[in-house]
Amino acid sequence: MTDTSTADSTDVDTSSPETDRADTLTIRDNRTGQEYEVPITDGTIRAADLKKLAVDGEPGGLATYDPGFVNTASCRSAITFIDGDEGILEYRGYPIEQLAEHSTYLEVAYLLLNGELPDREQLDDWVHEVTYHTFLHENLKQFIQGFRYDAHPMGMLMASVSALSTFYPDARDVLDADARKLQITRMIAKMPTLGAFAFRHGMGRPYVYPDNDLSYTENFLAMLFKMSERKYNADPRLVKALEVLFILHADHEQNCSTNAVRSVGSSQVDPYSAVGAGIGALYGPLHGGANEAVLRMLREVKTVDRIPEFIDGVKNGKEKLMGFGHRVYKNYDPRAKIIKKACDDVFEVTGVNPLLEIAMELEKIALEDEYFVKRRLYPNVDFYSGLIYEALGFSPEMFTVLFAIPRTSGWLAQWEELITDKEQKIARPKQIYTGYRTRDFVPLDQR
Ligand SMILES: CC(C)(COP(=O)(O)OP(=O)(O)OC[C@H]1O[C@@H](n2cnc3c(N)ncnc32)[C@H](O)[C@@H]1OP(=O)(O)O)[C@@H](O)C(=O)NCCC(=O)NCCS
Repeated sequence: MTDTSTADSTDVDTSSPETDRADTLTIRDNRTGQEYEVPITDGTIRAADLKKLAVDGEPGGLATYDPGFVNTASCRSAITFIDGDEGILEYRGYPIEQLAEHSTYLEVAYLLLNGELPDREQLDDWVHEVTYHTFLHENLKQFIQGFRYDAHPMGMLMASVSALSTFYPDARDVLDADARKLQITRMIAKMPTLGAFAFRHGMGRPYVYPDNDLSYTENFLAMLFKMSERKYNADPRLVKALEVLFILHADHEQNCSTNAVRSVGSSQVDPYSAVGAGIGALYGPLHGGANEAVLRMLREVKTVDRIPEFIDGVKNGKEKLMGFGHRVYKNYDPRAKIIKKACDDVFEVTGVNPLLEIAMELEKIALEDEYFVKRRLYPNVDFYSGLIYEALGFSPEMFTVLFAIPRTSGWLAQWEELITDKEQKIARPKQIYTGYRTRDFVPLDQR
């Protein structure tokens, strides 16, 4: 940053085309009358450049205040592109619609992690490696068995993923590229197994070991639903729907859980612990837990004729229309469009979920209502996904697990990018301190 404070402020020619082309911002600090020129790169200024704007040499200088990071970039990333106004989502430049139609989840995971789509040989190797690592250490099975019968599967998943770090001490070697690759493969391979074990635990059913003849999603369905049959063969339409759902959930740039993974990962802890933190963030109802809340909401609404009363309640601030609204999308979430279509394929096999009628009517009314139009609130990814998950036989507690499993590839791609980004530092935001300053301790009997 150039400090122009010593020069006359008129020295800064803000009208010069040179200056415009140079992409700088001139800031006048009205507290001191000094002017500063700050470079603009990729539509951002560096917050650290504001440190120079200090009054009477006060330490720290000017900072930005941004609860919830609504206008702060925390990294440079080449993984996922979102245009929230236009409703565009791309992984490594490929539109989500094309990936959902033509790709498989593991192919997309490879793309996210490596930056390019694999050729045939690379894909075969990757699928083989992931398949090879699907089994869990038997002690981990006992660990899961230790949970109460009614433990929430997300709590079990979070704890067991974190526990994996104790099985793989080599995971601490986060600066070794080969060690990182191994942990990434292990985690992507083991997530479905952990998710399925958590599901079976809640139902009191024996755990089903991976069947390595099956594809990633077929194997997951088998571990979830297989009973006494020798081989579990899922309906191909359900397998395809699950592949699509997994692809749609694989990454979503700097969302709450990805930020948690990056933030925790910035301490150079092992990736199991970092992803464990991401699972914790995803568990919350404002993030991955929203589809569970959507189903609860649809059940509460119960019948189509009660929708106007419910919408009035939302507009009066009594409740939220869950599955609507998004920090980034101010348009129809492109994932919600694809999921709405997938509903038809799934319901062809499972029968129509009766809550679909309520959801579609709610959407229709909300999209025409001024409250939602004005605030640009549209259905997000969670609005319809819960209906599919329920039709597939999952209880609402499992919905977020079905989000966490595919999001693991996105978390790990972002983690890899973080670790290899020379500019990154340990995450440590500032605060505006609003509490007391130095006070003398008062003994208990005098308070
Ligand atoms: C996703 C979400 C957390 C984004 O929050 P945000 O970017 O901080 O947006 P805000 O909370 O500032 O919302 C802006 C306005 O829209 C309203 N709003 C946002 N989402 C709403 C919803 N689902 N129902 C009703 N009103 C909503 C807010 O009350 C606020 O209104 P105001 O300006 O009158 O105060 C929020 O939209 C939400 O809670 N949605 C429901 C949960 C959900 O579906 N989450 C899944 C996200 S993938």
